[in-house]
Amino acid sequence: MKISLPPWPATPPSHGSVILRQYRDDDAHLVQEMGEDEYIAQMGALPPHPTTEQALAYINAYRQWAADGVGFGFAIADKTTDRALGEIVLRLDLGIGIATTGYSVSPLHRRKGVATQALRALVAYAWTIPVLYRIELETEPSNHASIRVAESAGFRLHGTGHREIGGATRAVVRYVLNR
Ligand SMILES: CC(C)(COP(=O)(O)OP(=O)(O)OC[C@H]1O[C@@H](n2cnc3c(N)ncnc32)[C@H](O)[C@@H]1OP(=O)(O)O)[C@@H](O)C(=O)NCCC(=O)NCCS
Repeated sequence: MKISLPPWPATPPSHGSVILRQYRDDDAHLVQEMGEDEYIAQMGALPPHPTTEQALAYINAYRQWAADGVGFGFAIADKTTDRALGEIVLRLDLGIGIATTGYSVSPLHRRKGVATQALRALVAYAWTIPVLYRIELETEPSNHASIRVAESAGFRLHGTGHREIGGATRAVVRYVLNR
């Protein structure tokens, strides 16, 4: 059963020093910063060393997600300065009550708790969506930072699997948080 997405959150989800807000064109610098990280470029839709045009196309594609009913692609921003520091997604399959998440932080803003706070904000927001009962995420077993972020938000190891990353099939660990 296809269930429509809730509207974009009227108040930006927030935790500590970060808020989750809509991506804007003036966040192109963030996409370009993230595109300097080879690992992020390998993982998905972001070309390595993106031009401004490529960064804007990426931002537009993210904004389209909500309109297409895929979920919410948030920019993680500093609550005080509003500068974009990273991104976090909530893909929703409301027909089965399950969401998936993933996150990346600009190499310029790592190891300051940005991803940890963003995931906590995302989880608190996710639980305002009534039919949702589970949030899942996958990461590589060697990605200790990502695993720490997940565990800090209460996610627990649920299994293993495989995923294509950078054109190769790699082992992943699956973490789950139930309502
Ligand atoms: C994973 C990532 C999002 C973490 O972002 P971050 O904002 O730097 O994370 P935090 O500052 O909240 O740190 C979370 C924990 O990881 C630890 N950590 C951060 N970077 C680390 C690293 N390179 N190696 C080991 N531990 C690390 C922190 O010390 C902290 O540990 P603690 O909870 O015990 O204090 C960021 O490194 C990144 O964008 N990586 C590339 C993309 C990626 O791997 N995304 C995850 C795929 S789901």
